[in-house]
Amino acid sequence: MSRLDSFIRRLTAQRDILNSIIDLVGETPGPVLEFGLGNGRTYDHLRENFPGRRIVAFDWEVRSYSASTPEAQDMVTGNIRESGQAFVGIGAALAHADIGTGHDEIDAVTLTWLPQLMAGVLAHNGIAVSGLPLEHPELMALPLPDGIKEGRYFLYRRT
Ligand SMILES: C[S@@+](CC[C@H](N)C(=O)[O-])C[C@H]1O[C@@H](n2cnc3c(N)ncnc32)[C@H](O)[C@@H]1O
Repeated sequence: MSRLDSFIRRLTAQRDILNSIIDLVGETPGPVLEFGLGNGRTYDHLRENFPGRRIVAFDWEVRSYSASTPEAQDMVTGNIRESGQAFVGIGAALAHADIGTGHDEIDAVTLTWLPQLMAGVLAHNGIAVSGLPLEHPELMALPLPDGIKEGRYFLYRRT
């Protein structure tokens, strides 16, 4: 499969999973956390689908499209590994992490801390959506929407 096809399938999986959990997240109070603001595309999608929710975005620095940039109080810069710790216990309804790089050695380091952080920021029954697999005893894998192949993007509920 070409890299273009692979990229399109990953983004399709990302969008379809985010769309599939809108009602589920609606059942849980709490903010939405966006780990890896990037260009701000998924931030914009979350904002559109969770009107009225506080959405806090994280990245090394702000590099998003200006119309998809959070207000300063909801933008956290620096290494998520450290900056995310202040949000452990916040009781998020949804945490979305799109911080995989496609480089196995870099992603392996991210996976030494990301599952614990995701479990830590979520409320009971909160939803984790991730580009990297999250192995954690409190994160239960949920079935993916129809047509999304296992392993392309990941979906969990915090027990
Ligand atoms: C693939 S992009 C996210 C794209 C975003 N979902 C969008 O739709 O525009 C990944 C982002 O995560 C950020 N990132 C990755 N690891 C990080 C870390 N440890 N701390 C802070 N930001 C990180 C990168 O700087 C990059 O902007």
